[in-house]
Amino acid sequence: MARKIVAGNWKMNHNLKEGLEVVQALEAYLLKIAPKNVETVIAPPFIHIAQAAEISKNTHLSIAGQDCSAQESGAFTGEVSAAMLKSAGAELVIIGHSERRQYFKETHAQLSAKVEQAWANNLLPIFCVGESLEDRKAGHHFKTVEDQISGALGKYDAAQLENLVIAYEPVWAIGTGETASGAQAQEMHAHIRSFIAQQHNATLADEISVLYGGSVKPANAEELFGQPDVDGGLIGGASLQADTFIELIKIGEAVL
Ligand code: 13P
Repeated sequence: MARKIVAGNWKMNHNLKEGLEVVQALEAYLLKIAPKNVETVIAPPFIHIAQAAEISKNTHLSIAGQDCSAQESGAFTGEVSAAMLKSAGAELVIIGHSERRQYFKETHAQLSAKVEQAWANNLLPIFCVGESLEDRKAGHHFKTVEDQISGALGKYDAAQLENLVIAYEPVWAIGTGETASGAQAQEMHAHIRSFIAQQHNATLADEISVLYGGSVKPANAEELFGQPDVDGGLIGGASLQADTFIELIKIGEAVL
């Protein structure tokens, strides 16, 4: 069975004090309920990771990087390597978020190298895909997502891809308040699985986790998480406050 994950991506929000307060509140809640059905993840800014990982080491809360370098180490000013993330206590890393693709022009080849760096350092990559509004309007959304998967992951085999999570985040639904309907999410998630089955095999297609992201909030999470091919969420704005994220964890526990 695919692993079920409720993950928060804080993007460039929260200073250190604010962020650690949220992690502490999540930790207190997770210590009480010890979630059984879902893994919980927060991807804070890099500078929070070591302390966030220390606070959360006794619970199911795992810490993720929001990105990592495509390079192993060396003279790449401003970059953070996968090895550094691991040494700070991260267990996962988001790779290929649409904001990285759009604003930092990350290419398939760079994303592929980042995935390799994550694997080499025992980090689970959360690999993001998703179409723009223009793609969807033109009916190219399936093709765009297929190209993103095969462009960066095409050279890897099924055994490698068992250690990877996909997050489907339609760009038009990110931070816009507009969300995919349950039916739209289900349709794309099922398509991603059938594409993986065709490229690899049915076991990988069944077992790979496919998360939905894009304006997930308590009001729509039940519909989205309740879809058969949705294994959880990658949540931006609604993960910034502990109480809202806890609501989402509760919904995940109930319906995933
Ligand atoms: P929002 O939930 O704020 O739309 O962001 C989604 C996202 O990009 C998570 O990675």
